[in-house]
Amino acid sequence: MAANSLTVTDNRTGKVYELPIEQGAIRAMDLRQIKVSEDDFGLLSYDPAFMNTASCRSAITYIDGDRGILRYRGYSIEQLAERATYLETAYLLLYGELPTSAQLDDWVYQITHHTWIHENMKKVMEGFHYDAHPMGMIVSMVGALSTFYPEAKNGIDGETRKLQIIRLIAKMPTLAAFAYRHNLGMPYAYPDNHLSYTGNFLNMLFKATEVKYEPHPTLERALEVLFILHADHEQNCSTNAVRSVGSSRVDPYSAVAAGVAALYGPLHGGANEAVLRMLGSIGSRDKIPQFIKQVKEGKAKLMGFGHRVYKNYDPRAKIIKRMADETYEVTRPSPLLPVAQELERIALEDEYFVTRKLYPNVDFYSGMIYESLGFPVEMFPVLFAIPRTAGWLAQWQEMIEDPEQKIARPRQVYTGPAQRDYVPLGMRG
Ligand code: SDX
Repeated sequence: MAANSLTVTDNRTGKVYELPIEQGAIRAMDLRQIKVSEDDFGLLSYDPAFMNTASCRSAITYIDGDRGILRYRGYSIEQLAERATYLETAYLLLYGELPTSAQLDDWVYQITHHTWIHENMKKVMEGFHYDAHPMGMIVSMVGALSTFYPEAKNGIDGETRKLQIIRLIAKMPTLAAFAYRHNLGMPYAYPDNHLSYTGNFLNMLFKATEVKYEPHPTLERALEVLFILHADHEQNCSTNAVRSVGSSRVDPYSAVAAGVAALYGPLHGGANEAVLRMLGSIGSRDKIPQFIKQVKEGKAKLMGFGHRVYKNYDPRAKIIKRMADETYEVTRPSPLLPVAQELERIALEDEYFVTRKLYPNVDFYSGMIYESLGFPVEMFPVLFAIPRTAGWLAQWQEMIEDPEQKIARPRQVYTGPAQRDYVPLGMRG
């Protein structure tokens, strides 16, 4: 009997099976040999919402949910947030190593010179109502990008793949800014190649009549840190969508559009928007106990709290909370900040949340900063999608290169009716 193995007895047949354990996991396919008869399909593992299923092997991001650890390619999120830029982090996620100075210069040059979108994309944007939700616009626009780059269909080829990755990372801020300006009825501000990735994003968002937009360095750095913190998070809902859609070998634009769609949900990237709406509906500190009562009665969720993996404080939330004060020095704190702080204080002490290990996650405080930077709440999930594009593409690329990966096609436990005959219309009911 091998040391790293599971010995399983099927009590239905008395047969004993030995299942190898590799890297803390058994292969689900090893269960298929467990049968009650020759024509038995074999045992499945049933795991709704993949609570305990590894869908892949990945070397990109490591999370220890109990200890509140998050690392990209082995580098702690704390060190990257403190010392790296977002494009440097994107390179690390995609290529596994921090870039040399020459590699970084070339990478920044490539991204900077692919920020423009085809003018016809403006016609797609103009088809939306003025008050269309920007995430709905971004889902559509990212998918639409695939029609301008048909060569992306053979995304498995190295150079073609690298060019699509550069285009997507470069164009996401442009699409986001154009969606924002569309909502405001303002003319688009085009990219300025003399600015940084985040400086140019601020330029495309907020440039008015000045000849040259000058981003405020504190706000530029705040966005860099927020983008670094949101860049990847292993096999979350939207990454699973990108990997699953990408496994059909569709182009990366369509796979990333699926990721944007998954991120849009209020349980995922849409939570930062939902947090501000929740705080707004609470309104003031004295209304918090009533809201907490509703949460305990299952009538409301404490948005921005809880996590499938973190059963401790989300390390990203800690950094964002610390960084908020620096941002408020040059902006103005959200009037809802005192409500957020009191809500967090109460939740961290309350038995209901403590027993469920519900701590603030990345979305609880990020919205506070976005609001203080002047973004409308509808833009908050878009500000999540921009940086996560690098993580989605790193995960997509790893899936494409993984010899074990095939088209994603889960099985099911069938609970429907057994075979039955067709009933003519006149004989029904
Ligand atoms: C992100 O996966 C990732 O990595 C995602 C992300 C990333 O970077 O990609 O980290 C980004 O999506 C962060 C999460 C943002 N979402 C929210 O803040 C929405 C509010 N949170 C919850 O909806 C919830 O906590 C989830 C969705 C985040 C996690 O849900 P799980 O793991 O399925 O946990 P669960 O729903 O089974 O909850 C366990 C218990 C339940 O209580 P009981 O039924 O056992 O009594 O905790 C309760 C839940 O009702 N609970 C909450 C709660 N979250 C869980 N109760 C009130 N408020 C909450 N926020």
